[in-house]
Amino acid sequence: MTPPGNRIMRVDAKPPCCLDALVDGDADGLTQLYIDPRVRAFLGGPLDLATAQQRVAALLADQPNAWVRAVRATAGAPLAGLVMLDPHHDGEDLEISYLLLPGFWGRGLATAAVAQMRQDAIQTLGLSRVVAETQAANAASIRLLERLGFSEARRVTRFGAEQCIFVSHAADLHAA
Ligand SMILES: CC(C)(COP(=O)(O)OP(=O)(O)OC[C@H]1O[C@@H](n2cnc3c(N)ncnc32)[C@H](O)[C@@H]1OP(=O)(O)O)[C@@H](O)C(=O)NCCC(=O)NCCS
Repeated sequence: MTPPGNRIMRVDAKPPCCLDALVDGDADGLTQLYIDPRVRAFLGGPLDLATAQQRVAALLADQPNAWVRAVRATAGAPLAGLVMLDPHHDGEDLEISYLLLPGFWGRGLATAAVAQMRQDAIQTLGLSRVVAETQAANAASIRLLERLGFSEARRVTRFGAEQCIFVSHAADLHAA
């Protein structure tokens, strides 16, 4: 019998994750991402419904010109979240950002999505590195980045909060 406190933790296999295009049917899930206080806890707080719906309409319309992907557990499944690549505030790098609806937290889906987006971005755009910025208080987000081998490069104060800027170098991925 395994003694208490000395239990062997089973590590589940990498969860399935599908990154694909947003479709009109994702509008409700997208709106939820903008208005849910848990999702927005470290992103400036929830938006009101009207503002959220405007953002969703803009996101769906701009999609062909943007690096934004729907995160789904499998192809054709309901929207679980979003992963995006945008110019970073530093004006030099591209930044990966990620958010999932709370019902999908805690199963490795966001980790798989960020890993896939990082790989796609580095390969397609020939980047030498990508960055991610997250509030120092956002422990789940920091664990995710560290799990994927991102390292903290610096901290800044932005939007009234301490932000950690993490970097992932393409050379480290090729070496892995
Ligand atoms: C940041 C955010 C995406 C992290 O979500 P998450 O559920 O912790 O991340 P994952 O989906 O990768 O799941 C990882 C967790 O599932 C667990 N897990 C279970 N099965 C797993 C598996 N097969 N593979 C990997 N992890 C697994 C991990 O142990 C981990 O839990 P832990 O952090 O308590 O150790 C989520 O909190 C969120 O959407 N927050 C709001 C938006 C936000 O703040 N974004 C960050 C700034 S851009």
